[in-house]
Amino acid sequence: MLHLLQPTDPRWIDAVADDLPGLLADHAHCELKAAQSALSMVGRFGGEAPELIEPLSHLAREETAHFREVSEHMEARGVTLGKPEKDDYVGALRKAARADGEAPALLDRLLVSALIEARSCERFQVLADGLTDESLTAFYRGLMAAEARHFTLFRGLAEARFGADARRRLARLAEREAEVAHALPLGPTVHG
Ligand SMILES: [Fe+2]
Ligand SMILES: [Fe+2]
Repeated sequence: MLHLLQPTDPRWIDAVADDLPGLLADHAHCELKAAQSALSMVGRFGGEAPELIEPLSHLAREETAHFREVSEHMEARGVTLGKPEKDDYVGALRKAARADGEAPALLDRLLVSALIEARSCERFQVLADGLTDESLTAFYRGLMAAEARHFTLFRGLAEARFGADARRRLARLAEREAEVAHALPLGPTVHG
């Protein structure tokens, strides 16, 4: 799905179902980080790539709205937002991209973002299909569509600017992503 080479381990849903408060708290932070990352890209690359400013500013607003929706599900369940944890998946993916040869920083930033959106989309589908709480399954089904759109946005921005280099690099980074996703221990987090 969406360029992912390895599906999520089917045992992940069990780890999540055992700790829904943990999943929701982690998910809330993922949405905040997605908004922050979009804005930091606007700040860092908006000068050299002004075509990013409008779509990524819009994306930051949308991810912020997602954060608010997750936090409402948390409030309804009495779950509080803890401090953000380090996201080992995102850290390992960025590190693998850096270790994997020379590519322009902007290209890798766009493509790593695309793959994170793709993996999130895939995980949300697993949640929509596998959880029993109906308000959460409907919620995750809606978010799945948004993450698929965000994957397409980041890939499209990369291809518009870098052409065939973007397609080659995405194929390469998708291999790294599959290794990273496969190597991480299963846990009650969006990317765990
Ligand atoms: Fe989101
Ligand atoms: Fe997203």
